[in-house]
Amino acid sequence: MTTIRLDNPQDTVAPTRGDSSWYTHDRFGMFIHWGLYSLGARHEWMRSREFLSNEQYETYFKRFDPDLYDPGLWAQLASDAGMKYMVATAKHHEGFCLWDSQLTEYKATRTPAGRDVLRPMLDAFRERGLRTGLYYSLLDWHHPHYTVDVKHPQRYDAEFAAQSRERDWHRYVDYLHGQTKELLTGYGPIDLMFFDFSIPAEEGFAGKGKDEWQSERLVETIRSPRPDILLNDRLQIPGDITTPEQYQPREWIQVNGRRVVWEACHTFSGSWGYYRDEESWKSVDTLVKMLIDTVAKGGNLLLNVGPNGRGEIDERAVDRLKGIGAWMRLHSRSIYGCTAAPESLYCPPDCRYTFHPEKKRLYIHLFSWPFKHLHLYGFAGLAEYAQLLNDASEIRMLEGEREMTMEAGAFNEGRKAGTLTLQLPVKKPAACVPVIELFLK
Ligand code: GLC
Repeated sequence: MTTIRLDNPQDTVAPTRGDSSWYTHDRFGMFIHWGLYSLGARHEWMRSREFLSNEQYETYFKRFDPDLYDPGLWAQLASDAGMKYMVATAKHHEGFCLWDSQLTEYKATRTPAGRDVLRPMLDAFRERGLRTGLYYSLLDWHHPHYTVDVKHPQRYDAEFAAQSRERDWHRYVDYLHGQTKELLTGYGPIDLMFFDFSIPAEEGFAGKGKDEWQSERLVETIRSPRPDILLNDRLQIPGDITTPEQYQPREWIQVNGRRVVWEACHTFSGSWGYYRDEESWKSVDTLVKMLIDTVAKGGNLLLNVGPNGRGEIDERAVDRLKGIGAWMRLHSRSIYGCTAAPESLYCPPDCRYTFHPEKKRLYIHLFSWPFKHLHLYGFAGLAEYAQLLNDASEIRMLEGEREMTMEAGAFNEGRKAGTLTLQLPVKKPAACVPVIELFLK
């Protein structure tokens, strides 16, 4: 008989101040990077990379006119892909504001768009039942009192550096805190704030971190009216959510030796903003595997779209979202409400497990389809029933020790005591990643 314990792995996670229960259930969200850089269409960091001045960058401000913008369509695409929340850039490093901020004129309402483009986005996603989060850049390359640092477009401009010394940093801090309040009071129930990011000291420039942003005070201003809100970890003080970017962690992320709530954020193609000529687009197959791999390690996936200057999510992204949605339609049961499997369970090569602790179901994701048998060592006595998730067709199970035989006509690879063998169809089911649902006792 087995002695494997099926404790709930979520119970090992360090508690969060904000309410992470909906978040660790929903697992999958859409990141949206949209701003003036969408017109340059060559990376959201283009202003810094090309050392562009305010005047040079003004050309995009004058032409921001998303005539095809239909946030209902964006929300529908996200929902059809199985995403349950969104995080949109209210302001990215360039400083441009998508909403009608009372604290600046550098906003969508003053461009040819002539309107607040953030509010209808939040409304559209909420209407379709998605939670809403906002990304807010701590960096600001446009604000007149934001001082020069190693990331700033004018960092090598001596004149600018000299002027920078005259800047009144406190006015920027007031702006950053004021805008945060504006967003949290005027834009409905924001579930999550994603601040980005703290800058290390480098190349002789001082860094910017918790003292510069006044992070602790900022967090308290946010939390006192909104104790449940989720905050990320880039204010140089611990947050609710740890946010690795553009890589897959090897295992459940730990902070100070404890498992934490975490979220991998990824792009489809490398840059976050719309990049016309980028060719490194990930396949649906890769993206679905990234989602599974993330949940198998107890994390969330925030997958980014960079809408273009006309306000459209381009064909390449739509294609991926639809592909993920096709997989999610049949397999989302292995994602929602799931987490990593108990560590005591043996996992075969090329497989990822997710686990639904309340339902006691183990989801076996087969990244590579094996020939006929999947041997689960130590699983004998654990499972009641097995089926393919895509069509609920039974997967027959074999248990019991069996000797290996090599006589002609009686080939049999045998089975060790304690092993559960699943008998798979030879033909891989029509899903980029097939899933076996194992009902545990
Ligand atoms: C970064 C980048 C950025 C992107 C973000 C997403 O730190 O500066 O352009 O918005 O991370 O996590």
